Amino acid sequence: MTWQAEADLVVVGSGVAGLTAALDGVSAGLRVVVVTKDDVDAGSTRWAQGGVAVVLGDVAGDSVDAHVADTLAAGGGLNDAAAVAAIVGAGPGAVRRLRERGALFDAVPDATRPARLDRTREGGHSAFRVVHAGGDATGAEIERALVAAARKRELTVLTGHVATDVLRDRTGRAGGLAVLDGVGRPGVLRAPAVLLATGGYGQLYASTTNPETATGDGVALALRAGAAAADLEFVQFHPTVLFSGPAVGRRPLVTEAVRGEGAILRDRAGQAFMADVHPLADLAPRDVVAAAITRRMAETGADCVFLDATGLDGFAGRFPTVSASCREIGIDPARDPIPVTPAAHYACGGVVADVDGRTGVPGLYAAGEVARTGLHGANRLASNSLLEGLVVGERVVRAVVADRNGVRDADLVPPSPAVPVADRAVVQRAMSTCAAIGRDGAGLAAASDAVEAATVLAAPVDRSGVEDAALTLLAQAVLAAAGTRRESRGSHVRTDFPERDDRWQAESLRIVLDGAGR
Ligand code: SIN
Repeated sequence: MTWQAEADLVVVGSGVAGLTAALDGVSAGLRVVVVTKDDVDAGSTRWAQGGVAVVLGDVAGDSVDAHVADTLAAGGGLNDAAAVAAIVGAGPGAVRRLRERGALFDAVPDATRPARLDRTREGGHSAFRVVHAGGDATGAEIERALVAAARKRELTVLTGHVATDVLRDRTGRAGGLAVLDGVGRPGVLRAPAVLLATGGYGQLYASTTNPETATGDGVALALRAGAAAADLEFVQFHPTVLFSGPAVGRRPLVTEAVRGEGAILRDRAGQAFMADVHPLADLAPRDVVAAAITRRMAETGADCVFLDATGLDGFAGRFPTVSASCREIGIDPARDPIPVTPAAHYACGGVVADVDGRTGVPGLYAAGEVARTGLHGANRLASNSLLEGLVVGERVVRAVVADRNGVRDADLVPPSPAVPVADRAVVQRAMSTCAAIGRDGAGLAAASDAVEAATVLAAPVDRSGVEDAALTLLAQAVLAAAGTRRESRGSHVRTDFPERDDRWQAESLRIVLDGAGR
């Protein structure tokens, strides 16, 4: 170890959950250090488009109960109803406090009364309840506001620092974080509370809406520290991601709000197809739409389907981010149907945590996409992700303060130096071919074999090694969970078990690592 520092709370990740918690931690008088492996705003938050689903009480006919019901309906029977009620119910307060921190949401132009926030609708929502910013740049505005607030509060943010292990003391409690600094020097941040807010693992797939930071680091850190993960097989594919050929890496989203405001999906013959699939047609929950598109592409032998937004007025003003992405590939959404395919988007599962972020390891917390609180079940309702990050980001600080993780054995147990690492391209190929929408037992077993054959034991010495190790562990865990769950539910679609089987009702598959947690 070449350097050491101390804090009351170490936060890994600087998106909506991490920065909300860090700012609240500072307000609560904690010494907070944020560790983030890239630039402060390089995570998934800033790419979120549609908005934040929240019931603020000013939309006739909408209610928190309706938002809860929609969340449960989308989640395919696997949500934790108490977690849904707690998180959805806390949404209005969390959004109000975010606005007090400086986030600017789009208002309905109305000169006669105080500005009222504009609302849009997305798949699975029974009401127009999604607040948005910059048209379709909601995540960017939230990240901007939180980063500005962090600068104002002089929050300590260690950018370019990658977490390698959650350190525990001899009693098994979390006591800090092992970190590689910007030039690869190992160090230790000692802290009685460690919050993982690292986002998801979309980079398991060759094609994803996620930025390159989304490599499952937090789930890997938690599993190695002895915490459990669950629902990892429920990788949500966003139905409409801009298609411009077989590109790999991060691909531009076409927000569901485009369908919320009237666009419809058509196959390459121009045929609208969602009305035959679900009563909500193009606004069915995301898993239904993504699976229907995948089927239609297979039936027609096409590389993509088309989102027809030509009937929408003022597209470029309402959806500037989508318009800019379309322009780059020569598409004008006012005239041309937008070519789209599904792509990996969101991890509905993650580190098992309660709605206050507590994991099974004392002193270790998780919030945001990295966590599995039970809000999402088998399929997340659109725009519930920023909501969860905000709410649990706030609640976790109250838990840290209440838990008084204070005095502990000073000895931190050194982590195991070598971990399984496979080549990233092999992992992405195996996952994309065999573990996307429409998996089967033989393909999942073949993918596991391919990952295993490419795996060696190695001690990661830099960010890319740490990420490869995380992706390897996540691939093993997702494949194991997807192979075990012999049914189709939510975003887990098995072609060999195409029906939902309610013998699996409410049963989350927990993953723990052999030997971890000792
Ligand atoms: C979108 O804008 O369609 C994505 C929002 C989300 O993932 O909830």
